[in-house]
Amino acid sequence: MKSPVVEQDEIICQCFQVKESVIRAAIEANNLTRIEQVTKSCEAGGGCHSCHILIQLFIDQHRHLTHPMEELVSEHAKKVSKKGILSRFFAKMAGNGNQH
Ligand code: FES
Repeated sequence: MKSPVVEQDEIICQCFQVKESVIRAAIEANNLTRIEQVTKSCEAGGGCHSCHILIQLFIDQHRHLTHPMEELVSEHAKKVSKKGILSRFFAKMAGNGNQH
């Protein structure tokens, strides 16, 4: 089974301006299984880490794995830097919204 078709090719990694199609192509071409490998391959995920949750989702889809969304969010909330575009959202999910 192939990965889902990219209908709207949005920029997933704002830090490095990497689009969904580029990330999915890198995962498929090299059968990548870890976010660090994706970062090495196309730079996505190398900055604030806000996009890691989506990169993980693409990897999981490629590998036909599914994780409950809460699990993914809670796992990645710990890694997102305070500078990222989704940092406030993730800070709330991680329960550390009071940190400055
Ligand atoms: S948005 Fe991808 S590393 Fe910041």
